[in-house]
Amino acid sequence: MNGLFITIEGPDGSGKSTQIKKLAEFLKESSIPFILTREPGGTAVSDKIRSLILDPAHPEMADETEVLLYAASRAQHVKEKIIPAQKEGKLVLCDRFVDASVAYQAYGLGIPVEDVTRINRFATGGLKPDRSYLIDVAPEIGRQRMVSRYSGEALDRIEQKELDYHERVRSGFQKIYEENKERFLLVDGNQTEDEVFDVIIKDIKLLLANRYN
Ligand code: TMP
Repeated sequence: MNGLFITIEGPDGSGKSTQIKKLAEFLKESSIPFILTREPGGTAVSDKIRSLILDPAHPEMADETEVLLYAASRAQHVKEKIIPAQKEGKLVLCDRFVDASVAYQAYGLGIPVEDVTRINRFATGGLKPDRSYLIDVAPEIGRQRMVSRYSGEALDRIEQKELDYHERVRSGFQKIYEENKERFLLVDGNQTEDEVFDVIIKDIKLLLANRYN
């Protein structure tokens, strides 16, 4: 049986990296075979594309280039890493996937959703997560968290964009959630780390029980 494909999404500063680390610890302790991976990135080729996309030295990057680079990184990731791991029966825990491109590049930049969706269908062969967690947080709070975590100048090219853009991304994620409720669990990212983790872990335990028992 193919391994479960689980993604975590949310605006910058939603706390998703902390949650992913905790989830990985849980899976390890439970002896569930899994891989932990992220986008953009996850393979050598995809990581090189990630460095280019996020490089603050390129504010001139065209929106079309950006959407295609994310999709190129994703195509390699799906073929080289996600599908083979699933075939081995491993659970794939992925930090962001296609929904991020719809939120950031379509809703954030204003590229038509149909275009972003079509480009990504080509890149992924239509692969969809079995479950996606959306950790929702207001952009002002996300920004505060990021600034307190790094020094101001360490923000990457996307994180540096203005608050309006991040507001569009957030409401984009909410629309995606509304349209895909059967796949998504919406989690309030204003709660404490432990509270957020409890909500996600309860759901994952149910998923695992349904899958393997
Ligand atoms: P990360 O902070 O989750 O590592 O992601 C890096 C940045 O890339 C973050 O600002 C979100 C952005 N991003 C997109 O704009 N589109 C995408 O498809 C993905 C995967 C990430």
